[in-house]
Amino acid sequence: MGISVTARLARAEDVDVLIGLYRKLEAEMVAIHPMWPRADGLDEPVEQSFLAHMDNPSARVYLGEVNGYPFGFIYARTETLLAHEGDTGVVSIRLVFVEQDARGVGLGEIMRDTLMDDFRELGHHLFDAHVLPGHRLAKNFFEAGGFSARSIVMHHNDRPDGGRRIGATYRTIQRT
Ligand SMILES: CC(C)(COP(=O)(O)OP(=O)(O)OC[C@H]1O[C@@H](n2cnc3c(N)ncnc32)[C@H](O)[C@@H]1OP(=O)(O)O)[C@@H](O)C(=O)NCCC(=O)NCCS
Repeated sequence: MGISVTARLARAEDVDVLIGLYRKLEAEMVAIHPMWPRADGLDEPVEQSFLAHMDNPSARVYLGEVNGYPFGFIYARTETLLAHEGDTGVVSIRLVFVEQDARGVGLGEIMRDTLMDDFRELGHHLFDAHVLPGHRLAKNFFEAGGFSARSIVMHHNDRPDGGRRIGATYRTIQRT
């Protein structure tokens, strides 16, 4: 029997699943660069961030499913260009993640392409994706989707901790 690989818009009731996936992405990214949770991930508490992005008409959060079970997510938002570009914005794919066991079956691709088609229907034609330097997996994935690098962020940290998030604590949301 074949497997079904699909993407759908995330809903508020998916937030716990999204947080679990996000923490796995964070662990993978922080091993590549310690600035990731400070600059490239979501604002803490991430539950609140996910809920806000789902409510934001300029953003999209999709869940990727294999046989109806969630194994990945993608998050993008529109960002402005320089003032002289007027209303032309760029869709920025900020986060994409597929669980290790579900990689290579096309889940990332279906989430990426569904999200891009969604934004195209709104009139967008410019797309960025954020990838850490040296992260060949993600670079290959976006290149396979027709992306090419246009910018690299150089970083310097004066502190001996290398920018690590030592002792950081985050509030969790109290549920009623
Ligand atoms: C990048 C990522 C989302 C790809 O998800 P995926 O579901 O495994 O990718 P797909 O199976 O849809 O692959 C789509 C295409 O990308 C390319 N690709 C994906 N994984 C690849 C790999 N390991 N090596 C080379 N190319 C690869 C291939 O061209 C593939 O097409 P093909 O299957 O026809 O060869 C996944 O590897 C991941 O979650 N990585 C960690 C998180 C991350 O780096 N996120 C980006 C920054 S936030």
